[in-house]
Amino acid sequence: MQTPVTIVILAAGLGTRMKSRKAKVLHRAGGKTLVEHVVGTALELAPAERTFVVVGHQADEVRKTVDHLGVRFIEQREQKGTGHALLIGQDELARLSGHLVILNADGPLLRADTLRALIRQGEGGGAAGVLLTAVMEDPTGYGRVIRDAHGRVSAIVEQKAATPEQLAVREVNMGFYWFRADLFWKHVREIRPNNAAREYYLTDMIAILNRAGEFFEALQVEDAREVLGINNRIELAEVDRIFRDRKVRELMLGGVTIEKPETVTIDSGVTIGMDTVVEPFAQILGNTKIGENCRIGSASIVTDSTLGDDVQILPFTIIGASEVEGGAQIGPFSRLRFGNQVRAGAHVGNFVELKNADLGAGAKANHLAYLGDARIGSRTNIGAGTITCNYDGVHKHRTQIGEDVFVGTNSTLVAPLEIGEGAYLAAGSVITEPVPADALALGRARQVLKPDWAKKRRALVKK
Ligand code: UD1
Ligand code: MG
Repeated sequence: MQTPVTIVILAAGLGTRMKSRKAKVLHRAGGKTLVEHVVGTALELAPAERTFVVVGHQADEVRKTVDHLGVRFIEQREQKGTGHALLIGQDELARLSGHLVILNADGPLLRADTLRALIRQGEGGGAAGVLLTAVMEDPTGYGRVIRDAHGRVSAIVEQKAATPEQLAVREVNMGFYWFRADLFWKHVREIRPNNAAREYYLTDMIAILNRAGEFFEALQVEDAREVLGINNRIELAEVDRIFRDRKVRELMLGGVTIEKPETVTIDSGVTIGMDTVVEPFAQILGNTKIGENCRIGSASIVTDSTLGDDVQILPFTIIGASEVEGGAQIGPFSRLRFGNQVRAGAHVGNFVELKNADLGAGAKANHLAYLGDARIGSRTNIGAGTITCNYDGVHKHRTQIGEDVFVGTNSTLVAPLEIGEGAYLAAGSVITEPVPADALALGRARQVLKPDWAKKRRALVKK
């Protein structure tokens, strides 16, 4: 595209119908805030310095979610309508010639290809503007598209202002527009708040430009589900489901097996390699990257983590901000809280919690253990019930265990602590001192044996 594109994203409203203390565009669908979705799509078409987000309600929070993308902001302190949002920004925006694209931030499903088609249609004809429309089964709440005898758009009438006849129109405005910048800025000040809501409607620009002798076109999308706006939590859930559906389809076409795909939750930022199997009700979130030929067990939740190839995650496992190398096996019922490194071929079994732990290649912690702030060497075996006591009530301390160590069942390892390679820790020990390589450490009371004690007691009780 030769002519430069300026994109304005309207994100200043509260969204009263959400019944929320949080601005509508900060609600999430498909694992991202609504505004992040729309800004992401805009950036596929316009450079960041020509992408403007109008912020108002909870401006700081909205800014924070997209600031890292380098976009610019326009502050609309009082939200007097979608048209008012543009009036606020006109000094800065009117200097930018070319295509002007305006997007509602509450329509996160919009795709870059649809937007490209919108701009192409604008570029091709002599229209002052083109808007995206769809025919909806139930058009309630949307602005109705009024066409003239030539099929051109003569006006958009908002739900509240529509006559019964207009309310029967099922073609609606989806809130995505292309305008010829020069004409838009020439006429924008003609928008008046002469409606029941006392708002400046951006949609009035269609009638205004028609009155000025220009004409307006519509680009009708075939499937309204591509461009749905969100105004309440029912629509939020619908759009979330559409995002999830898009994602699992993309993954399945890319070679991932997803069992009962309607039950899984996979965020858009997730990547999964070929021949990996995702079992029902798994959740794979954030920026998780999963290699090839893995299995993600039922009801497991993996967030912001990286898994190599051939990793087996058994059901009901929770993994956050961790790295799991190839061939490792985790679960069922394991929890990797954060900052963990599980190296190649290591095993983590049921009711084992890891936090900030590095579990060496081929090491095993198969049952009932807490390993926190610990480094565990390759092939070391951690017996059932092992606890690293990493916290003294004030500070956290590290436990270092060498390679090929055998940590007996129910060991209590009081950090800071170092265990040399090849050492043995006797079952039931409380280990408080360093253990040199290849030593055996016992830290428990010696067993006492009293022959026939029980028999004598029984006899005594019977009397
Ligand atoms: C708008 C359209 C309607 C269309 C629908 C599509 C208008 C007048 N109506 O209605 O024709 O069918 O979208 O979803 O435009 N915003 C601001 N500043 C404001 C007010 C709103 O930035 O002062 C932002 C909101 O944050 C939101 C977007 O503009 O992202 C749309 O606002 P919303 O109140 O949802 O408009 P609708 O009533 O849905
Ligand atoms: Mg809306």
